[in-house]
Amino acid sequence: MAVKLIVFLCVIVISKGVDIGSLKLDQVLILSRHNVRTPLTDSLEKYTPKPWPKWNESAGILTQKGALLEGIMGKYISEWLDNEDLIEGCPEQKEVLIYANTKSRTIATAQAFVDSAFQNCNVTVRHLEDLTVFDPVFLPIVHNNSEIFSNQIGEEMRAKIKDLNLTESYSELAKILKIEEADICKSLYLCDLNIAQTEVVLEVGEEPNVSGPLFIGNAIVDAFIMSYYEGMPLEDVAWGQIQTPEQWELLAKISKENQNVRFNLTLGSKDIAGPLIKYMYNIFEDKSPKFTMLVGHDSNLNSVIRALEFKPFKLSEQFEPYPIGGKLMFQKWVDSTNEYLKIEYLYPSTSQLRNAEILSLSHPPKKVLLELKDCKTDSNGFCLFSDFMKLNVY
Ligand SMILES: *[C@@H]1O[C@H](CO)[C@@H](O)[C@H](O)[C@H]1NC(C)=O
Ligand SMILES: *[C@@H]1O[C@H](CO)[C@@H](O)[C@H](O)[C@H]1NC(C)=O
Ligand SMILES: *[C@@H]1O[C@H](CO)[C@@H](O)[C@H](O)[C@H]1NC(C)=O
Ligand SMILES: *[C@@H]1O[C@H](CO)[C@@H](O)[C@H](O)[C@H]1NC(C)=O
Ligand SMILES: *[C@@H]1O[C@H](CO)[C@@H](O)[C@H](O)[C@H]1NC(C)=O
Ligand SMILES: *[C@@H]1O[C@H](CO)[C@@H](O)[C@H](O)[C@H]1NC(C)=O
Repeated sequence: MAVKLIVFLCVIVISKGVDIGSLKLDQVLILSRHNVRTPLTDSLEKYTPKPWPKWNESAGILTQKGALLEGIMGKYISEWLDNEDLIEGCPEQKEVLIYANTKSRTIATAQAFVDSAFQNCNVTVRHLEDLTVFDPVFLPIVHNNSEIFSNQIGEEMRAKIKDLNLTESYSELAKILKIEEADICKSLYLCDLNIAQTEVVLEVGEEPNVSGPLFIGNAIVDAFIMSYYEGMPLEDVAWGQIQTPEQWELLAKISKENQNVRFNLTLGSKDIAGPLIKYMYNIFEDKSPKFTMLVGHDSNLNSVIRALEFKPFKLSEQFEPYPIGGKLMFQKWVDSTNEYLKIEYLYPSTSQLRNAEILSLSHPPKKVLLELKDCKTDSNGFCLFSDFMKLNVY
């Protein structure tokens, strides 16, 4: 307590603008990606003559390790909530909302979080009852079905594909796969990822999608990344052939660009993320619950970030542009006169994931301060909450 008071007094003296010493955490909303899952496609055999490692679960399911990692993150966040005096012990029913998309991996992630962050408390994970449909709040599709709009999106995606230069990435991948000995080459004559064309796939009611090398490359690199995070022996991660950070970077570029082409869209992202952003703003308007976690997908984080117009940022020590288990954390802080917003990207580093490092206030996950283009922040990363609320055009 004495230490806290001294720190508090020092902070008052040195800080300009917002007096951060007198700020109190008032509300938190997290938009989270699910944790480590099995690869999304279970038909990767045709891309290589080499045997793929075996996974215990079918495609796209949260793994046991994924649940463990989410629990570690949950524990850290509950420590932080307690430290900031927002939630101590078991919260009341109305104080928290944990809401997941209907996919098994998102529900299981939310459950793992709750079991650890609110252990032995009566906190229920909410989700649509019908698990056979993708929850419309999280569904990353284009809603405006006008031909003009669809054409605009198609054009932007094609322009992004045209600007891509993944030559080195595809070459590296082809070498690791020995693609010239794979079925895809022998029977489908796709032997060179640098010659085949990536095409835009836009269908009403479906996610903006691509086919060709960008789709294939992303599916394969995703399988490598997940096996690395899962903690498989290195000889089972891309058959032991990724040996340098430069190789990882080349391969990860394919995942980054897949996300960039499909969801980082000027007009499209505002439409795609509309229902989710509307849902988020309702919670801020209601000033309740105190703590919310929404569990969705990288496509949700990507389209929300683009739609709300964040300034560019870099997430270090990560392969993925929207890291597995990563959390976009909107925090409302108040003092006696004002309300402020601070946004951080909270995510585990590659080594924290692979080694399942225990996280705590003294060994935290990575935290990157983010800024919105239209909510001017001070040197501590706070902007006026009222300015943030004005960005609600949904
Ligand atoms: C599969 O399950 C077994 C037993 O639970 C576990 O020891 C092993 O690590 C799991 N393998 C993978 C790849 O998850
Ligand atoms: C737990 O919460 C549910 C509502 O979500 C309520 O129906 C139930 O009575 C609660 N159980 C306990 C033990 O408090
Ligand atoms: C759909 O997009 C078209 C073309 O950009 C636009 O004119 C129209 O207003 C949009 N409709 C809705 C409901 O937003
Ligand atoms: C793509 O990048 C490589 C280097 O990585 C370069 O040699 C090549 O000229 C580039 N291709 C185009 C079309 O810009
Ligand atoms: C995207 O397209 C690929 C290749 O055509 C297909 O296999 C995949 O299922 C599609 N994904 C989605 C989410 O629509
Ligand atoms: C998103 O697209 C913009 C250009 O429209 C680009 O400047 C930015 O780097 C892209 N972001 C990512 C993460 O790819």
